Amino acid sequence: MDFNLTEEQLLIQKTAREFANDQLRPGVIERDEKAEFPAEQVKMMGELGFMGMMIPEAYSGAGLDTISYCLAMEEIAKVDASAAVIMSVNNSLVCQLLYQFGSENQKQKYLTKLASGQLLGAFSLSEPQSGSDASNMRTFAKQDGDHYVINGTKNWVTNGISSDVVLLMCLTEKGIGHKGISIFIVEKGFEEFSTGKKENKLGIRGSDTCELYFEDCKVPVENRLGDEGGGFKIALGTLDGGRIGVATQALGIAAESLARSVEYANERKQFGTAIGNFGSIQTKLAQMAIHVDAARLLIYRAARLKDEDKPFAKEAAMAKNFASKVAMDASTQCVQIFGGYGYIRETGVERLMRDAKITQIYEGTSEIQELVIARALLAGK
Ligand code: CAA
Repeated sequence: MDFNLTEEQLLIQKTAREFANDQLRPGVIERDEKAEFPAEQVKMMGELGFMGMMIPEAYSGAGLDTISYCLAMEEIAKVDASAAVIMSVNNSLVCQLLYQFGSENQKQKYLTKLASGQLLGAFSLSEPQSGSDASNMRTFAKQDGDHYVINGTKNWVTNGISSDVVLLMCLTEKGIGHKGISIFIVEKGFEEFSTGKKENKLGIRGSDTCELYFEDCKVPVENRLGDEGGGFKIALGTLDGGRIGVATQALGIAAESLARSVEYANERKQFGTAIGNFGSIQTKLAQMAIHVDAARLLIYRAARLKDEDKPFAKEAAMAKNFASKVAMDASTQCVQIFGGYGYIRETGVERLMRDAKITQIYEGTSEIQELVIARALLAGK
């Protein structure tokens, strides 16, 4: 596979790097501390075309490929993993799902605004009793004339508070498993739809995560996305793409951990010499570099397959499983290299470790990725 980047891709990478350093880096430690959503910066990301990168220009997206999206995501995640997940959910879960499966009216009404960053989207699948076992949901939509009446509780919704539109998965028929799941486009203004408190998280504290409550919430029939009962497959197929985004978020965290470690190993002196001269530190740096590059290659392979319209679910799961482990390991080693200075907030490296952890959990835990990979292998794929 040829991974030479085009002039356009290099420009996207440079633009994202400059944006991240100029607009996200200042204040990132404070936003983490206060669990503050980067509203201004998300608006700017929309203006730069980063909120609907893979959506055609006809629907107000940037019309780019998945590799370009990964390049921008990595740069943003290096500096602020919270901003990266806000971007990832809007791009690869919300916009992508609407683009692939929405009706023309739904695309004109919602996708154009979501892809241009005028609106922010959320994707709501999990419920308190159904996380990894995603089809075991209870939220129910009952049709009543020209609308559905929705009742239930969803949780772990990224962008849940700040979003304007939620793609909601719920049952339209009970007792038939995943074949009873449908998807609805729910606007924040719809009556009897409310959000819970912002979760107080270990990491990615700048992004908001909350529960959603539906108590006889009326949603017009035209807001059903796809066929009744077809929602679960659409959600899983969309998550395959989402996993490339989360893998790239993890890659950004790992790459930043490596960069910070190299910088510190050159400047920090102990026993009369830079700590980078010690074999124990060199081994850590070398291992981090190998793993960061390997993660990037797995991600680019999955992205390339997706762009070529070839099956990529197994490869996306491999990329996410591996990159999230690399992020966890590299950020932990980074804190170790910084020693006591790594353990305090001001240095900003303990945040990398806290932010890394979620990449092993959301959009399918590492264990679920292994299940997806193993099932594909056993099926001869
Ligand atoms: N794409 C499309 N269809 C798929 C699919 C895919 N990747 N994987 C499976 N399917 C289809 C199957 O073919 C099957 O259809 P048929 O019955 O017609 O054959 C159907 O979907 C059900 O598949 P399974 O029987 O394999 O389903 P399962 O119940 O065993 O679950 C699972 C499979 C892989 C464990 C799945 O439930 C899963 O991925 N769980 C993790 C859920 C997850 O990632 N949650 C993240 C929440 S979203 C989030 O984190 C968002 C955020 O805010 C950041």
